Amino acid sequence: MHVLHVVGARPNFMKVAPVYKALAARPQFTQTLVHTGQHYDPSLSDIFFDQLSIPRPDVCLDVGSGSHAVQTANVMLRFEQTMKEKNPDVVLVYGDINSTVAATLVAAKEGVCVCHVEAGLRSRDRSMPEELNRLVTDQLADLLFTPSPEADINLINEGIDKSKIHYVGNVMIDTALQLAEKATMPKVEGLNGEFALLTMHRPSNVDDPQVLQQLMNKIVQLSEQLEVVFPVHPRTKSRLEAIGFQDQHTGLHLIDPIGYLECLALQRCAKIVMTDSGGLQEETTAFGVPCLTIRENTERPVTISEGTNTLVGTDTDLLEREFLKVLRGEGKVGRVPDKWDGKASDRIADTLLAEIAVPSHKRAAA
Ligand code: UD1
Repeated sequence: MHVLHVVGARPNFMKVAPVYKALAARPQFTQTLVHTGQHYDPSLSDIFFDQLSIPRPDVCLDVGSGSHAVQTANVMLRFEQTMKEKNPDVVLVYGDINSTVAATLVAAKEGVCVCHVEAGLRSRDRSMPEELNRLVTDQLADLLFTPSPEADINLINEGIDKSKIHYVGNVMIDTALQLAEKATMPKVEGLNGEFALLTMHRPSNVDDPQVLQQLMNKIVQLSEQLEVVFPVHPRTKSRLEAIGFQDQHTGLHLIDPIGYLECLALQRCAKIVMTDSGGLQEETTAFGVPCLTIRENTERPVTISEGTNTLVGTDTDLLEREFLKVLRGEGKVGRVPDKWDGKASDRIADTLLAEIAVPSHKRAAA
């Protein structure tokens, strides 16, 4: 079975890594890896390929940045050509980025089986580009691999046939467990002892100067009680420059984007994680570290009901209250959700073998 994987941005890379490995361990599969180039900076892309031992992509589409329409359309235009050249049996798409929905549209129209890894997540907030990407991808996908039971319920409620849905668990956690031992703390100049980790890049937090300013004021204040390490995403960097934010605060450490192994180490060692990332909400739950999510909603509610996650939105007073609660030792402990056990990718590989019939003329040619 010829499987073509499509990835494009940072959060895709830790999802494809264990799936690629699981398929490589089974002789029935051949694989092609396509990188759309949505993320192109080495600090957001190459370092992840190296650290996660993902082979170099077979095809790079080099779409780069642009408006949503431009980026999505460029992936579609270029990926259509790749589909014709590679002629895969199955296309695997990951997560909820623009590249995910673009590749899904092309493959579905070519009549090729599309499988969505991390299907069924819903924030119910259609102002998030990722929510629109999820809705469209899941409607068009032929097989939907879900990380948690409520994702199955979301899909069934949207009319998706049960037979297409496979609750396999969380592939992000496969990677986190595989690489936890290799996690390495980055050098953070001036950091002494305990700290909180902050990551923030969502348009809802960083694109409105007033919201960003209020959040940064509160973070600076909190960093006087517990030092804060803040790896800054390129989008956030440009927005901080636009509001004239100066890094002159002794407890707050702004650093360049970090690799996967550094991010794992920072999460595991942090006393608190504050984030708007989907992946960090899940990884902190797996590691039992309290997480304060700077969003009004989450498409990963299992991290709240079972894990260590608390939603604080952009309410900076609530952020402070929850932060102080953790400092008093009253942070959430949580438990690791079912099937976040490091074996989700194996379940995906086995399901592909069980569910997908490769046409006999292709079997003969292989
Ligand atoms: C994208 C995903 C988001 C994911 C995030 C992880 C969508 C809609 N959004 O958001 O779901 O959580 O990636 O980082 O697909 N830029 C660089 N270097 C790069 C890439 C981007 O400097 O390699 C800058 C560009 O100025 C760009 C901005 O960052 O305009 C935002 O990049 P973009 O890919 O549009 O979205 P992200 O915010 O990264």
